[in-house]
Amino acid sequence: MRPVKVAGLGTFVPPKVLTNTDLEKLVDTNNEWILQRTGIRERHIVEKGVGTSDIALPAAQAAMKEAGVTADQIGFIVVGTTTPDMIFPSTACLLQAKLGAVNAWGYDLGAACSGFTYALSTAYTMVASGACDHAIAVGADVMSSIIDYTDRTTCILFGDGAGAVVLSVAGPDEPAIIDFSHEIDGHGGPSLCMPAGGSKLPASHETVDQRLHFVKQDGGAVFKFAVRKTEEIALRLLKRNNINGPDLDLFVSHQANRRIIEAAADRLQMDSRKVVINLDKYGNTTAGTIPLALADARADGRLKKGDLVLLASVGAGFTVGSVLLRWGC
Ligand code: UT7
Repeated sequence: MRPVKVAGLGTFVPPKVLTNTDLEKLVDTNNEWILQRTGIRERHIVEKGVGTSDIALPAAQAAMKEAGVTADQIGFIVVGTTTPDMIFPSTACLLQAKLGAVNAWGYDLGAACSGFTYALSTAYTMVASGACDHAIAVGADVMSSIIDYTDRTTCILFGDGAGAVVLSVAGPDEPAIIDFSHEIDGHGGPSLCMPAGGSKLPASHETVDQRLHFVKQDGGAVFKFAVRKTEEIALRLLKRNNINGPDLDLFVSHQANRRIIEAAADRLQMDSRKVVINLDKYGNTTAGTIPLALADARADGRLKKGDLVLLASVGAGFTVGSVLLRWGC
């Protein structure tokens, strides 16, 4: 296997902002409840007609620019998303055409909130194995397209956003991706899902009338699983690599709820300054959260080239993921 580095990172959120105060006008909620229970203040949402490939494009372009890689050099594109533009063709195909990545193949990957960690490790494997020299891993979701803005238990949580990294072969002394560990537990399916619109329950008048094309969540069950598993998967990966929590420079967890991140960080004995929390600005953007958090950590000086970073995610499925790396750009 060849060493692989993150050569570029790009992100994008749509300009339109939906604040907690805006949501107070839509459902029976209030800013204090949302802030206290989740840590979220506002989220960005797209205008009607904007799809996941549209927000993935500027993120991927920015990542390519930083990496100094042209579209024709990209060999592989993987898009982690729960909200593809349409069931088919894949968002990866749509993005490939928009980028002009004429030498790339690729596909979408359905892992919900673990979309980015899974896409990152899939693209890593492609470059490490020699299948290609440069790959793009995207985490992007337009959650506003599947959120029921009459359901106060879910509509306050989610936002839209995208992030992308370019992975390239690393030189022998360059900071590189170290390891990953993932698992899935299909018993968690009913706890967080969108019941209709797939092959089992195709769209019909009934499914629309019953509001089955929206996210349904048992928040308490997901919360408990997320707290337990974020810690468990992180510790497993650290132990395997003989690293202790305090040795890390940065811990970047999926951004679903401030309380989940803080509980996991406590158990990992992480200094709070090394824990990225930016869900106050974006809410839960599903596959977009981790690259958006990495970008913010870079912007505020907490993430630098060579830093030892642990990524962790828990999402619908359930999906659980973690990636350990030395930051490469
Ligand atoms: O990224 C995918 C993974 N998803 C997650 O990780 C989400 C995990 N779950 C959570 O983050 C939390 O469970 C929530 C934020 C969704 C809910 O927080 P909670 O502390 O578990 O609240 P709860 O569901 O137990 O609800 C407490 C109360 C209930 O009222 P009663 O039954 O005690 O009278 C709810 O009806 O709060 C009520 N409630 C609200 N009140 C005001 C629920 N949603 C709202 C709301 N505004 N938006």
